[in-house]
Amino acid sequence: MKVIVCKDKEQMSVEGAKQIQECMNNKPDCVLGLATGSTPLGMYENLCRMYKEGTLDFSKVKTFNLDEYCDLDVADKNSYHTFMFENLFSKINVSKENIHIPDGESKDANKECKDYEKAIVQAGGIDLQVLGIGRNGHIGFNEPDESLFVETHVTDLTQTTIDDNARFFEKKQDVPTKAITMGMGTIMNARKIIVLANGEGKKDAIRALLSGKVTTNVPVSLLQLHPNVVLICDEAAYPND
Ligand code: PGA
Repeated sequence: MKVIVCKDKEQMSVEGAKQIQECMNNKPDCVLGLATGSTPLGMYENLCRMYKEGTLDFSKVKTFNLDEYCDLDVADKNSYHTFMFENLFSKINVSKENIHIPDGESKDANKECKDYEKAIVQAGGIDLQVLGIGRNGHIGFNEPDESLFVETHVTDLTQTTIDDNARFFEKKQDVPTKAITMGMGTIMNARKIIVLANGEGKKDAIRALLSGKVTTNVPVSLLQLHPNVVLICDEAAYPND
């Protein structure tokens, strides 16, 4: 695993954007796996700036997002659809038909999951997957458990994740408790993975990612089995001990 320790979140965001730029330069019609959350926000700002400056062209790029809440209106301010359009898609020249985000409102969620897997395969597989990490080591919404799902599936969110997400919702009871997420196999099938992390709160998860042991109790640790992972974190998240 390649590790890039940055002095702060700004530098982490620049490094992340550089990885995407490199992927797009090598393959203008590449397939990007994208993540939501506070971690990749700065990276998306950099990508929007690079597009504006004319150094990036998303016209042939396809995107697949990691996850989406179930039973939350796509137009809700907290849906991942809204997040992606507000922070990236509305500011770059990606074609609408090339954007894929799981439909958490689907009446047949299991079919939605199967169709999502098929769509990724039909697009040729993911060239570069962007990941943030939950404090508990989740990636996408693959939460710590005795066993983990391989493919895209519906999952219950853990209390830690529900608590972490509560800050975005007015009422506690509005916080979604289920989501559709790519599975560990979907993620591991990406040709390259970049993991972004900043802040002290991610230190334990990064420690597990660098531990030399894998455990489904810290899903991010499984990435050690992938041959092409780049960890980009700030000094606060990097365990020096
Ligand atoms: P965060 O979330 O970027 O808001 O810290 C990361 C995650 O839960 O995957």
